[in-house]
Amino acid sequence: MAGVTSDYDSAPERYRLGMAVTRRHSSESLYAEVAARLTVLGARRVLDVGCADGVLRSAVSPGPLVVGLDTAAALLRAHPPPVVRADAAHLPFPDASFDAVTALNVLYHLPEPGQAVREARRVLRAGGTLLASAIARDDSPELWPFWRRPATSFDAEDAPAVLGEAFGRVAVHRWDAPLLTLPDAAAVRDYLLGRQAPSDAAARAARAVRTPLPVTERGALLVASTDRT
Ligand SMILES: C[S@@+](CC[C@H](N)C(=O)[O-])C[C@H]1O[C@@H](n2cnc3c(N)ncnc32)[C@H](O)[C@@H]1O
Repeated sequence: MAGVTSDYDSAPERYRLGMAVTRRHSSESLYAEVAARLTVLGARRVLDVGCADGVLRSAVSPGPLVVGLDTAAALLRAHPPPVVRADAAHLPFPDASFDAVTALNVLYHLPEPGQAVREARRVLRAGGTLLASAIARDDSPELWPFWRRPATSFDAEDAPAVLGEAFGRVAVHRWDAPLLTLPDAAAVRDYLLGRQAPSDAAARAARAVRTPLPVTERGALLVASTDRT
């Protein structure tokens, strides 16, 4: 299956719009949870694959060294250093150079996410940990009458098996709850645009949906560690 088109260099504002809606109207933060897990792991060197403009870096700061890696120069420019412009499938780092690798809402852009997972494993030290997140195919059902996210190469349903090919044991932490409440028509439109819905579908939803609209978010955070020896 092809990865979802990456428009982050040509339309960084589309990503920022989606992030702003989520940040403003969500009751939970994936980034705060990942930051807390990195602290518990005692990770000192973290590679954030698909770092965008630094949402995870902000959540862990001050904390471990976070090296940002992304293909989109437009977003990387806003990420504090150190940053590297590179592809998740070919990490420009030696073996065993990080305590943790994060890949948050990124791997669905890759046609073969397994290759990026193997690369993450390669750059992890013995006992290092990969934290990857994925959205579920049945996410945001309240908006399906207007737009439904197409299946991707790395949905939450398949993600554990993809990580399982490279890591012995994968812990899966799922969410399935109305974690987001869209207060008005503009928020409905911006939420859909942020998810790469076509603008006509976003406009139709904004006109038709009754607000405030609780939205059921479904997805998973996967945590996989390499052997300690
Ligand atoms: C949905 S955004 C997620 C960004 C951030 N991790 C977050 O959780 O908000 C996907 C990010 O992955 C980046 N990306 C897409 N394909 C990539 C690839 N093959 N290698 C590295 N980064 C990639 C995009 O440029 C974008 O910044």
